[in-house]
Amino acid sequence: MTSFHYQNGSLYAEGVSIEEIARTVPTPFYVYSEQTLRFQMQSFAGAAQNRLTSFLVCFAVKSNANPAIIKILSSMGAGADIVSEGELLLALSAGVPADRIVFSGVGKTREALALAVERGIKQINLESEEEAILLNEIARQAGRQIRVAVRVNPDVDAHTHHKITTGKKENKFGVAWQEARPLYQRLMKSENLIPVGIDVHVGSQLLDTEPFAQAFDRTAEIVKALKADGVELKTIDVGGGLGVAYQETDRPCSPDDYMAVVAEKLGGLGCEIVFEPGRFLTAPAGVLVSRVVRVKHTAAKDFVVLDAGMNDLIRPAIYDAYHGIKAVRESSEQRLFDVVGPICESSDVFGKERALPIMQPDELVVLETTGAYGSSMGSNYNFRPFCAEILVNKNRFAMIRQRQTFEEMLSLNRPAPWL
Ligand code: LLP
Repeated sequence: MTSFHYQNGSLYAEGVSIEEIARTVPTPFYVYSEQTLRFQMQSFAGAAQNRLTSFLVCFAVKSNANPAIIKILSSMGAGADIVSEGELLLALSAGVPADRIVFSGVGKTREALALAVERGIKQINLESEEEAILLNEIARQAGRQIRVAVRVNPDVDAHTHHKITTGKKENKFGVAWQEARPLYQRLMKSENLIPVGIDVHVGSQLLDTEPFAQAFDRTAEIVKALKADGVELKTIDVGGGLGVAYQETDRPCSPDDYMAVVAEKLGGLGCEIVFEPGRFLTAPAGVLVSRVVRVKHTAAKDFVVLDAGMNDLIRPAIYDAYHGIKAVRESSEQRLFDVVGPICESSDVFGKERALPIMQPDELVVLETTGAYGSSMGSNYNFRPFCAEILVNKNRFAMIRQRQTFEEMLSLNRPAPWL
């Protein structure tokens, strides 16, 4: 489902014309469709509902950190999967109840763990014995009993881009699955940690169910072995990873295909299943709107230079990721262009040999499927401000984050006294 469509030759987000938004909002900016976001959440949670007796969807805030997005998902029953102190504060301030927040991450700091302990979140996913020792000490000082899960590394090849693999044994994430059992034994003896769950994240942008099936088999084995050891787990956190179609040839498995595997492998173990989807919920709900700065013809190529750069959307530069590129004004006459950003890096390229109408400066384009890991991975590179974010709901739109000003950027700098 997409809420981005042409109407009278011009691109709309739901009932709002992108051109109309661009009349008042400086480009580049992200536009999110509330309808698509809700649809994605509904499809995910609906599929889980059909197959599982007990589950919780914890939205992976790293994919899109805008509080309006978090609020919509939270109003539909989602909790949050967070990976830093900042994300914890963000989720809480967006109104996510602490008992629906799970905390993952290989390098949680003492401060972040202390805050999680103080707020009493649902579960902390431990990624090493060293972390367990530190958390036990923090919990003891605070006089609290903390619910924990062990994140196991399933050592499964998810066949994703090498820069986003997480579930192989050579990756930094989790505890080797063979070492999980003895760690639970030690946790059972710890005074302030209660092992309530197990956690496994297979990878991101998975298009088929096979790697999930392999990892969940391993997880189920561990849950059963632990039961025999007298450790009764209550939650199985299956992480995120469900992929989306970035181009027409992508054939991702459906939420129902995915839930069928979850139910088959883990549904009969009497545990609540926790999900941490990010991309599936947010990617299709967003586009990045940008203006053509220049059309540059060289002997080798025709370039469309945009006012959006890799600081606004870094996925093509670092993962060779594909994003559809469309002109906001529809036209049947098309030419091939390399679409690039203005940044002084040769990797600042959004797409090569893309068919677009004959573009002129000031015309608008959108980069599609950028609601996940778009804005949230933005930076100030080339001293460029974080761009604005707009939420559309039917015929109305609202600025849900304003563009950072140069004054704000400059105000963080301090003189060195000797200069
Ligand atoms: N849970 C954990 C522990 C994770 O590490 C991740 C993503 C998720 C959940 C959410 O995964 P998702 O459902 O979104 O696939 N920046 C990369 C993606 C990195 C994913 C990192 N971890 C990209 O733009 O493709």
